[in-house]
Amino acid sequence: MRTSYVLGICLFLLLPGFLSGQEKQSRQGSQPAQTTTSSKETSSAPASPHQLVITPEQKALKNPVKFTDESVEKGKKLFATQCAMCHGQTGNGKGDLAEVMHVNPPDFTKPATLANRTDGELFTIIDSGTGSMPGEAKRLKENQAWDLVNFLRTLEGKTPAKAAGKSGGAAN
Ligand code: HEC
Repeated sequence: MRTSYVLGICLFLLLPGFLSGQEKQSRQGSQPAQTTTSSKETSSAPASPHQLVITPEQKALKNPVKFTDESVEKGKKLFATQCAMCHGQTGNGKGDLAEVMHVNPPDFTKPATLANRTDGELFTIIDSGTGSMPGEAKRLKENQAWDLVNFLRTLEGKTPAKAAGKSGGAAN
């Protein structure tokens, strides 16, 4: 009962993202569409490796939003409403919708999960989507996607710099 309610809400929220995922690809405007459209997307759990092709330029993108408590707080709120249904409130990958969709988001609370991802890669994944995850480019402002990147870094165990300007655990 509860699950189908959640699913209904989520589908409603996500639909525009699914529909528009292809057309709005890159905010830099320089890259052609990189998402490989898989015509044979099934409901069975997709195996990683990721279907998204990330260019070296995207990978090297610098995070324009400072890794601060303020940004992390914004990212956290966004995550709770936009991502947790799949990724779980704690980021452990056990959201209700993931279960319903039979997809397996990675466990962000394991430091190894995102350790080798650059901020640019995370941004690109959030922006474009990957596999069964819808891209957010249409619905998020660019800085919001970066706030999410900063929030993801805290799940990994990094601590943001204090507003005072001490650079604590800087993100790469
Ligand atoms: C419909 C469910 C769903 C939603 C909603 C969703 N994701 Fe995902 N996400 C996934 C799945 C499934 C994967 C794994 C995809 C793969 O391995 O190809 C994934 C992968 C990722 C990855 C890649 C991790 C890595 O390096 O392997 C990141 C980062 C991510 N999601 C962030 C987010 C953020 C931030 C949001 C909210 C804006 C979000 N996701 C919303 C299902 C979802």
